[in-house]
Amino acid sequence: MVQPDLVPHGEKVEDEHEGSDVVDSMWEYPLKNNYVGVNCRRTMTNATTITSRTSSPSDIALQPIHENGRRYCNEIYFMPNDEPEQTRLSIVHQAFLILLDGELTTVPLPPEGPGRVLDIGTGPGDWAVEMGQRYPNSEIIATDISVFDGGPAIIGLPSVHFQLDDAEDDWTYHTPFDLIHFRGLSGAFRDWRGVYEQAFKHLKPGGYIEVVESDPAADIVTWANPNPDSYHDIYVSAMRNAADSLGYPRSREHLSRSLLTSIGFVDVTVQDMTVPVGAWPQDDRQRTLGKMVLIACLESLEARSLRPLTATGRWKKDDVQDLCEKVKQELMTSEGLTMSVRFVTARKPEI
Ligand SMILES: C[S@@+](CC[C@H](N)C(=O)[O-])C[C@H]1O[C@@H](n2cnc3c(N)ncnc32)[C@H](O)[C@@H]1O
Repeated sequence: MVQPDLVPHGEKVEDEHEGSDVVDSMWEYPLKNNYVGVNCRRTMTNATTITSRTSSPSDIALQPIHENGRRYCNEIYFMPNDEPEQTRLSIVHQAFLILLDGELTTVPLPPEGPGRVLDIGTGPGDWAVEMGQRYPNSEIIATDISVFDGGPAIIGLPSVHFQLDDAEDDWTYHTPFDLIHFRGLSGAFRDWRGVYEQAFKHLKPGGYIEVVESDPAADIVTWANPNPDSYHDIYVSAMRNAADSLGYPRSREHLSRSLLTSIGFVDVTVQDMTVPVGAWPQDDRQRTLGKMVLIACLESLEARSLRPLTATGRWKKDDVQDLCEKVKQELMTSEGLTMSVRFVTARKPEI
């Protein structure tokens, strides 16, 4: 899988784009997917320094970085963007569909669809593309700091626009959104409050955000027979320490009601859903879900930990892989394992 080179496609002229959030004359990829715009001002150096600059192609870390056998989009974000990760994210997306009985969101949507939608950290774009397929009259903007070549974006729906954008930079959208969606972004941001404040500003009055998280490093796996000396516990605490020391927290703090209400959101709902991990459920549907979640969990162990743990300097690649193997054994041999997925929704008040 080859990450495409970014090809400058003319100078950016601010006025040209005024009023439109589809910046298709700024920079274009030599096709294969329909990533169209760039609004990314972060440069990454050795997992520590982040600077803000004006937008230019040289600021965008589009050259993939190969490290410990995985491929990353830049020098900071902890998850790989290679083919195994893309496959894992697609499995997770399918598991969410089972969990939500085929729905894409817990936010109440009007029958004609949600209007304007922003999917932050869209990854390969499974959610955004499916949203676009179900609601062809909606306009979906799907952003990420990474390009997942060959994902569902290649379908090229006219209403789904993929843009390279760092959600921790200033948001420059001209038209407000009805729904802003964040899924699986634990560990992506240093400053969740700042991101939520921008979301609040860019929502229509009455518009919703939804934040969905299922990060096993955030203490969400529940064992039928807990063992405080488990390798899983060692894994979770090593991951948390690494995330804290790198400045990208991996807790559930950004999923709290009080954080959202302090920004001005109303009608905050926090819902925890329990999903099986493994093939132990009797019910066919739950067993299918459990198998998918187990596969995604096993695949995620190394994907989530290799970079942050080796970046601390306290872990070698082999040690991380050894720990992951031991956690895998625990997960595969445990009966009755469950995981909790948290859905948080909130609304911007009507004026
Ligand atoms: C675990 S994936 C989840 C992808 C997708 N939301 C899903 O549910 O399938 C997290 C995504 O967040 C993106 N990401 C990380 N930091 C980001 C940032 N600062 N701004 C925008 N996207 C970011 C990553 O590149 C990655 O694609």
